[in-house]
Amino acid sequence: MRQAGRYLPEYRATRARARDFLEFCFTPELALEATLQPVRRFGLDAAILFADILVVPHALGQTVWFEEGSGPRLAPIRDVGKVARLSLESLSEGLAPVYETLRQLRGELPQETALIGFAGAPWTVASYMVEGGTSRDFAVAKSWAYQAPQEFAQLIDLLVESTSRYLMAQAGAGAEVLQLFDSWAGVWPESGLRRWCLEPTMEIVRRVKAVHPQVPVVLFPRGAGASYEAFAEEAGAQGLSLDPTVPLAWAREHLQDKVAVQGNLDPVLLVTGGAMLEEGIDEILETLGRGPFVFNLGHGIMPETPLEHVETLISQVRAWRPKS
Ligand code: CP3
Repeated sequence: MRQAGRYLPEYRATRARARDFLEFCFTPELALEATLQPVRRFGLDAAILFADILVVPHALGQTVWFEEGSGPRLAPIRDVGKVARLSLESLSEGLAPVYETLRQLRGELPQETALIGFAGAPWTVASYMVEGGTSRDFAVAKSWAYQAPQEFAQLIDLLVESTSRYLMAQAGAGAEVLQLFDSWAGVWPESGLRRWCLEPTMEIVRRVKAVHPQVPVVLFPRGAGASYEAFAEEAGAQGLSLDPTVPLAWAREHLQDKVAVQGNLDPVLLVTGGAMLEEGIDEILETLGRGPFVFNLGHGIMPETPLEHVETLISQVRAWRPKS
């Protein structure tokens, strides 16, 4: 999950050195620094590349910007004519600074710290591209997919191609694990989830694993509910990131025998702290800690998160041992 961000004073200082958020992502010196900050402060086992899922539409030629306080904004793409104007030609040049950040990171990180690369899954990225930003109901993107699936598939196919290239290049530049964020998977009924989330994801995993078979792939189909099981069984990935609503005992029974799982502490509980936080952490460890498991949040860390709560979390996880 996102572990850099505004909750860290050193992040806010680095952020202030860039004119805007995209420049931050595309300046290796700054992105390197933002990636290393949480690792330096907390001694985490893994670093996640500092970038954003929306660098891909930007590199394809769409206008993307981040407005202070209101999140990402894009000049919306709502017809196939506009899809045709996006260009794979500009992709590798547009994303080159990200590869440079990864190469430098591998040199800076301790040998034992894993380096995680990532991208947005096609549906989640497409939803931002079509809606023009975050949405409450994704009605524009979903209606397009329902009304003209073959047209919408042109956008999804372009994202399968660009995301596969992007992840392969990340592995080539030093990423040792690749994570695909499908943050808005949970808005689809079962058949839409399969067509627009699972199938494009499977195709990306297939292409990436054909070139980099040794690189583990982790999926985050946030909000997928019982369909998490289909991702565990069919996607060909090695890990699943669980959102905070996935029941722990269910995950142990239905997912952990097929893939490694990670998660799934509610980021709001990390803001709240106290006895509820300790109990929440313990419950996760007790239920999932004996299987193939990575302790993580169930979604990105919130800007309001007190540093002391993160410190408590880390010492509690590090001190935990299975009782039997
Ligand atoms: O911790 C890290 O270094 C990881 C880097 C990372 C970022 N975005 C940096 C970022 C990762 C893995 C992402 C993924 C991402 N970006 C997702 C998928 C994961 C998820 O959280 O659901 C999504 C949906 C986005 C799109 C996006 N980027 C949104 C919706 C926002 C605004 C949210 C906010 O907190 O303002 C961003 C901005 C963003 N990307 C921030 C960071 C650290 C916060 C901006 C800031 O604090 O300066």
